[in-house]
Amino acid sequence: MNFLLTGATGFIGNRLIAQLLKRQHTVGYFTRKVRPSPLRHVGQYYWDFNAPPASEPFRDVDIVVHLAGEPVAQRWTPEVKRQIRESRVMGTRSLVNTMSRLAKPPAVLISASAIGLYGDRGDEQLTEASRPGKGFLPEVCEEWEEEANRAERAGIQVVNLRIGIVLGPEGGALKQMLLPFKLGVGGVIAGGQQWMSWIHVDDLVSLLVYSAENMVVGPVNATAPNPVRNSDFTHSLAAAVHRPAIFPIPGFALKLLYGEMAEVLLGSQRVLPTAAQAAGFEFAYPTLDGALKQLLA
Ligand SMILES: NC(=O)c1ccc[n+]([C@@H]2O[C@H](COP(=O)([O-])OP(=O)(O)OC[C@H]3O[C@@H](n4cnc5c(N)ncnc54)[C@H](OP(=O)(O)O)[C@@H]3O)[C@@H](O)[C@H]2O)c1
Repeated sequence: MNFLLTGATGFIGNRLIAQLLKRQHTVGYFTRKVRPSPLRHVGQYYWDFNAPPASEPFRDVDIVVHLAGEPVAQRWTPEVKRQIRESRVMGTRSLVNTMSRLAKPPAVLISASAIGLYGDRGDEQLTEASRPGKGFLPEVCEEWEEEANRAERAGIQVVNLRIGIVLGPEGGALKQMLLPFKLGVGGVIAGGQQWMSWIHVDDLVSLLVYSAENMVVGPVNATAPNPVRNSDFTHSLAAAVHRPAIFPIPGFALKLLYGEMAEVLLGSQRVLPTAAQAAGFEFAYPTLDGALKQLLA
């Protein structure tokens, strides 16, 4: 199949390209900065997100995977919040505008979303049928998904992949957490009762490819089937790097450091991959200990 990606130069996108090429798919991507690349058969197309992308790169494309967006894991100043929202809501809107006007649109749009959609939900078990939460991130995610869903009017099947905490060696949460844990200064966050819904990056990429190849549609929680409390996550990570985790991090310290973004680290989301499992997807790393063992070996 022919894939066209956005956000392909990021943490998830890099892995996705490698997997798609391995499976003999054809890949091209939009980027804000065309760079020299060793991947000579992968087309790069400039798009700065302020206007709809050109239609030419969509020629013969079967699947569009939309991953682009301003990073969420940073201090949320008013300007950063504007960029987080606009890059996703306006970016998705202009992408869908171009796709909808094509004489022969792609069959499927797989658009990244996030479990941040559910907000802070304590011990509640969250499936794709659960209602969205309240606050900045849930509202951005809801608008982001609504923009993607507009593609359905042009006959394009839409998958909103509600991605959890992605664990991989090259980026994301694990890379940020690893140094303090290796130094032995990692610890439980704010009492540790909050649920963390994580996924191994290889399972996320496999689920993305599985959704495309098996025509899975609708919202899909991209999280492993065994979410854990922060206290369990902390002890598993400490054990995996053979260090103690004896320095608890109080919630107020995170709020001082990250401001409003601390709500992402303090919130509780116990998310279950109901749609993925109903569609027959099998996780290679269903448990956290297994995932960390593979990642930190
Ligand atoms: N990693 C996670 O744990 C996680 C969890 C939940 C959801 N997600 C979502 O999954 C998607 C991919 O995640 P990722 O971790 O791979 O992201 P990433 O490494 O931050 O990369 C995203 C890509 O988006 C583009 N981008 C960055 N800032 C942008 C802006 N202001 N406007 C438009 N494009 C911008 C960049 O591509 P170019 O420079 O080539 O344009 C970048 O390579 C994101 O939408 C993210 O919110 C990720």
